[in-house]
Amino acid sequence: MVTTDTAPRPRLTVIGTGYLGATHAICMASLGYDVLGVDVDRRKIEALARGEVPFYEPGLAEILASVTTSGRLRFTDSFAEAAAFGDVHFVCVGTPQAAGSSAADLTYVDAAFTELASHVTGRALLVGKSTVPVGTAERLAALVAGTSPAGAAAEVAWNPEFLREGYAVEDTLAPDRLVFGISSPWAEERLRAAFAPVLDRGTPLVTTDLRTAELVKVAANAFLATKISYINAMAEVCEATGADVSLLATALSYDSRIGGRFLKPGLGFGGGCLPKDIRAFAHRAEELGVGQAVSFLREVDAINRRRRTRTVDLVRELTGGSLEGKRVAVLGAAFKPDSDDIRDAPALDVARMLHEAGAIVTVYDPAAMDNARRAYPDLAYAPTLAAAVDNADAVAMLTEWAEFRDAYPAALGELVAQRRIVDGRHALDADRYRAAGWEYRALGRPADPRTVPLVQDVRDRVRAAEV
Ligand code: UDX
Repeated sequence: MVTTDTAPRPRLTVIGTGYLGATHAICMASLGYDVLGVDVDRRKIEALARGEVPFYEPGLAEILASVTTSGRLRFTDSFAEAAAFGDVHFVCVGTPQAAGSSAADLTYVDAAFTELASHVTGRALLVGKSTVPVGTAERLAALVAGTSPAGAAAEVAWNPEFLREGYAVEDTLAPDRLVFGISSPWAEERLRAAFAPVLDRGTPLVTTDLRTAELVKVAANAFLATKISYINAMAEVCEATGADVSLLATALSYDSRIGGRFLKPGLGFGGGCLPKDIRAFAHRAEELGVGQAVSFLREVDAINRRRRTRTVDLVRELTGGSLEGKRVAVLGAAFKPDSDDIRDAPALDVARMLHEAGAIVTVYDPAAMDNARRAYPDLAYAPTLAAAVDNADAVAMLTEWAEFRDAYPAALGELVAQRRIVDGRHALDADRYRAAGWEYRALGRPADPRTVPLVQDVRDRVRAAEV
């Protein structure tokens, strides 16, 4: 193994202080590195410098507070300062979906590398962490070597990031694995020095070429999206047959080759990564002439979108066939619990469609209210769960926050006009809701629970026959 903690610690910069960059900068400072965070958005860096995390992420504010007092983390909007300060520069800017296309928009990545390269004068490693189409790192390496005053001494590496929102601190400090996409032994040594405390925990490291490192990230996200859409495709089959996808998923999960994670049926995936990453991957594969190899990702996307319209249909069915004038409480706005991120949020997409179909929609989310209000000003918002469900004709639970999972069905039942609930995330206890007089519905589960004991009867008879 190449040296880790014995190598001199590099000074780090983190370009882009959004979700990924801010978390990376704060966590690396907490590991004892001197870190300079860089962003062109002064509001972001001023907030961070004051010790405020500009988004919701459990545990991050506490770590920011401790590193702020240590003096190991500073912020600037000057690339010149960053180039003068750092040995290893991490580029963490966004790669959103391009307008009017399924490709990734690389404007911010290109700008960050170009600007940084123009100020780097000596040996330095410029490490991309952003999710990019395969081939981007090599293009940037040529651009950096060709334009930087440092010439070939400014080297590019790729270190994809796998952090999940809501678990960002854990995923950064104790990741499942590290991937270093490198072009030289020197780049590997620099990255090992930059991640020494993480490697010393025994974290698996995969060292690759630049192209493979870029692909690891999109392949991982494509796999996760496929797994979710697979179980949601099974939900569609269950709906057509009266079978129960929840029981099906449980039975599949005991097969250790399949596993139960990311096999939760329901409203499907959203957020700033999975949806746009599978589209960009399919787009890039077509450019490379291997579109057929990942053409299934279009179907993965289509299954996922269908879950949203089908959820609207389920609410419509529950409210007697029409949504016009029906009061619907939407519980959840964030794309998943423990996050205030509403990018491509399935919950808000469903809320919007319900509203467009004539329902009177009231949204409540424990953390994402301000973001939701800004993006969907036409919807009504309630300050509490109780206020949201007050007098509702139907409740749609669309993001599985603990507050919703832990609510008492009988107590909620006192507040609503009609005890009807769509469990968009298969997160509620159907039996408890039904026992409290609720009409409970979930995608891929039979409307009539009597079919479930029937299945049990068959199992009992098979078992009895075997004995
Ligand atoms: C994802 C990847 O997990 C992470 O490795 C990558 O770095 C960034 O993209 P994130 O977007 O934070 O992370 O969310 P994730 O926890 O993966 O959930 C994505 C979506 O899938 C959510 O909308 C979630 O509700 C949904 N989901 C997840 C399901 O519908 N079913 C599941 O079984 C799991």
